[in-house]
Order: sequence, then structure tokens, then C-alpha cells
Amino acid sequence: MPAAGIAPGGSGKEYPGNLTPFVTVTCVVAAMGGLIFGYDIGISGGVTSMDSFLLKFFPSVYRKKHADDTVNQYCQYDSQTLTMFTSSLYLAALLSSIVASTVTRVFGRKLSMLFGGLLFFAGALVNGFAQAVWMLILGRILLGFGIGFANQSVPLYLSEMAPYRYRGSLNIGFQLSITVGILVANVLNFFFNKIKGGWGWRLSLGGAMVPALIITIGSLVLPDTPNSMIERGQTEEAKTKLQRIRGVEDVDEEFDDLVAASAQSKLVEHPWTNLLQRKYRPHLAMAVCIPFFQQLTGINVIMFYAPVLFNSIGFGDDAALMSAVITGIVNVCATMVSIYGVDKWGRRFLFLEGGVQMLICQVVVAACIGAKFGIDGNPGDLPKWYSIIVVLFICIYVAGFAWSWGPLGWLVPSEIFPLEIRSAAQSVNVSVNMIFTFAVAQIFLMMLCHLKFGLFLFFAFFVVVMSIFVYFFLPETKGIPIEEMGQVWRSHWYWSRFVEAEAGHGNGNMEMAAKVV
Ligand code: BGC
Repeated sequence: MPAAGIAPGGSGKEYPGNLTPFVTVTCVVAAMGGLIFGYDIGISGGVTSMDSFLLKFFPSVYRKKHADDTVNQYCQYDSQTLTMFTSSLYLAALLSSIVASTVTRVFGRKLSMLFGGLLFFAGALVNGFAQAVWMLILGRILLGFGIGFANQSVPLYLSEMAPYRYRGSLNIGFQLSITVGILVANVLNFFFNKIKGGWGWRLSLGGAMVPALIITIGSLVLPDTPNSMIERGQTEEAKTKLQRIRGVEDVDEEFDDLVAASAQSKLVEHPWTNLLQRKYRPHLAMAVCIPFFQQLTGINVIMFYAPVLFNSIGFGDDAALMSAVITGIVNVCATMVSIYGVDKWGRRFLFLEGGVQMLICQVVVAACIGAKFGIDGNPGDLPKWYSIIVVLFICIYVAGFAWSWGPLGWLVPSEIFPLEIRSAAQSVNVSVNMIFTFAVAQIFLMMLCHLKFGLFLFFAFFVVVMSIFVYFFLPETKGIPIEEMGQVWRSHWYWSRFVEAEAGHGNGNMEMAAKVV
């Protein structure tokens, strides 16, 4: 996912450099990193709604799904093994991102990308040829390990290769490629489900091999970043490399800054204990609250389980897969709105507007489902208007997320952490995100079974809480250079008591070599 080291705003410095072929290829590989993550997010819900897949691996779920329609529809997918199939990936990603942080730092970004690509490939292979549930889960765990490595190294690689002034947009660009990955998965599920013989799910799951191969080959042919080479003592080679990457001879200023930043970052001895100091309280609070709230919007209920959800609330298999394609398209388009507006309208506006929009939609969807399915989950015949309203409001909800908490949930943390705690804070951010992604994936189907339509009100409640949090506690960071970020806390009505009298945080140059971990 988008990570630290990408600096929106600027220090006022202009390093010379062009969008060279190097940089372009880098962007392609980085896009593959986002794509494969999105693909894995989107693919599992579709295959779990396919009959042939259920019959093979989860026959009890299949029987429940096709039992008499008067049976409680809310509970038809409630199976812990089925959710384990989706959620195991996030637990594995959490664990491997911890290992990957060391590999990325000590052995360079390329090696982490290579591991990521190979693990993805292995995971997709095992999944595509799966014969038993354990193979499915093993495949998801391998994919998860791959995500840990790729999400650690790809954004970092990207931010270090990209010319300085393109970094901000590349950050949300990575989120955009995640949403494209989700959409591709939804579209492929729709078509593969139509394959006669019922083996289309194998193509869906095995399809992840394509971006996996591109990342693997990319990591073999691409150069390591100058930052990483300097960090590992290859200073002379790093300069030549920087000249080639930027396509200009005159890279002295940027190069000197990289060397200085690397030296500075080596002085940061205890990033973890640093993080606990009182003056970093606002940063720690954001590193925990932002990813927590992002997941408690309930977005992944839609991203993981849209086809299953649409199926549960009365759509046929095909209509359910099609509706997932529609929400996927909305997700991509609304992310573009965010790229356009984030530096114009500011972060707070998008957060608050997105919050209100999501809240209204959640209440409407809960009311619609409640009205038709009631408490016993037995709807009788479902009229067309009902399906249209549900899909429409789910789309408006997805749009609300996709221009607020989706990209900003990654962008804001990456711009508020000062260098001396950046590595640790970013790890906290990623870990909290993965833990709650796992939790939502694991308990959603059970919650749907027990909370029924009230499930949407559960997430609506959190949307209210997070909007209040943003309103009172999140300062605007639009257009503020990284090196002046300290000032937003010092002038904040609440956070000032923690950071008062502190000198400015970080340094614009240092951010060039920021390490995620
Ligand atoms: C979130 C993911 C989510 C995706 C949806 C990302 O920002 O971290 O959990 O699935 O957005 O587009």
C-alpha cells in the first residue's frame, strides 16, 4: 500500500530530472504491486459466490445456499473456514511485512520485490490448482506473504525512483492501481463464472500469476535505488546510477541530500522508543486511529464480499457478480476524483464529506434490507426497485469511501510522521490496517448472520465516531511542506499541549531517504 517516503507538498527545492524510461518502467512495476493487492482483495468474494467452487470446497455452504428460500438468508454464508479463505491472507501479510522491513533495509528494495513476486507466483499457482481447502488457504497465505514484501518495498522503491515533484500524485496513484486490481478481479469473476464445466474459479485464482510474473521479472531487470545503495555503502555507484535514472548530469544537490539524509537516518537509533515519547503522541494516535477507522468504515465488507452480499440479499449469481463490477467501476472513478481534489479542497473536507455520504448510505441500505428481509431473513419476492436502490446506495457509499478514507487513509499518515519516527510509525500504521482488515474479513459473515441488517448500522456508528474524530483532532495538512508539519500540531487546540515548545520536526531533505522500516 502507499507508504512513507512519498512527500506531497515540497521543500521548495527543485532537483533536476526527467521522466526517463527508467522511471516509466518503475511506475509499471509499482502499478503491478497495487494491482495484485487489489486483485487479491477483489477475487475471493466472487469465487466464494460461485456454485462450482462452493460445491468442491464448502459443500455445507452450498447446501445452505440452495436450501429452501424460506431459510434465513442472512446466515447462508456463515462458515469460519470460508472466511478463513479470505482473511488468512491479511494475517500472513501482517507477519511478513515485519520480516520484509529488515530485508528491504539490509538487502535492498529489489530483493524484497523479487521475494514478493515469487511468493505471489507460488500462491497463485497453489490456488489455481487447488484440490482441497488446505491448498486454498496455503495459497492465500503465500499471497499474503507476497503482499507483505511487495507492499513494503514497491512504494518505497517508487518514491525513491520518482522525480521529487511527482511523488504526491504517485502516492494516490498506487491506491488507484489497487482499485483497478479490484475491478479487474470483479470483471474476470463475472466472465469466468460463465465457463461451462465450472472450473472458471481456477482461472480467477490462477490469474494472479500474470502480475506476479511482471513484478518478478521487473525486480530482476530494474536497478536498485540510489538511496538503498548509499545506505549499503555503495556511494560512488549510487551517483552514477542517479545520473542515469534522472537522465541529467547535474544531480549533485539531490545526491548530497541523499547522502546527508542517509547519515541522519542512521543516527535514529531507537525509533520504537522514540514513538512513545510524549511529543509524538499526536503521531502515534494517528498511526493507530487512521487505519483503524479506515477499516471500520466497513468498506471491505463490500470489497471482499460484494457478490456474496448481493447474493444474500436476493440477487441471482450473475446479477451479484455484475453488481460487484459496478461498485468496482465506481471505486476507480471516485479515486480519480480524490487525486484531482486532494490538494484543492484539502483532506479534512474530503474526510468529512465522505463521512456524511457513507453514513446516509449505510442508513438507507440498512432500512431497505430491514424492510424486505426483516429479522427472520426471509424476503419472499424481491421487487426490482429494491435491487436498484440497494445497488445505487452501495455505489454512493463506495464513492464516498474512495475519495476520502481510501486514499487519505494512506496519504495522511505518510505526510505527518517526522523522519526520526517515520519507520516505526509507518509500521504501526500498516500493521493496524492489516489487523483490522483481517478482523473485518473474518467476522463479517458471522456478523451478518447475527446482526442482520443492523450490521450496516454498526459500521454507520463508527463512521459518526471517525467524522467527529477528524473534525476535532485531525489538522489540515494540505499544502504544508513536510519539514513544517510540526507547526500544525503546535497550533492545534488539543495536540499543542503535547508538542509545545518543540523545535520543528524533521527536515525536508531527510525525507528523501525516509525509510519505511
Ligand atoms: C484499503 C483497503 C480497501 C481498498 C478499497 C484501501 O485503501 O486499505 O482495505 O480494500 O482501499 O479500494
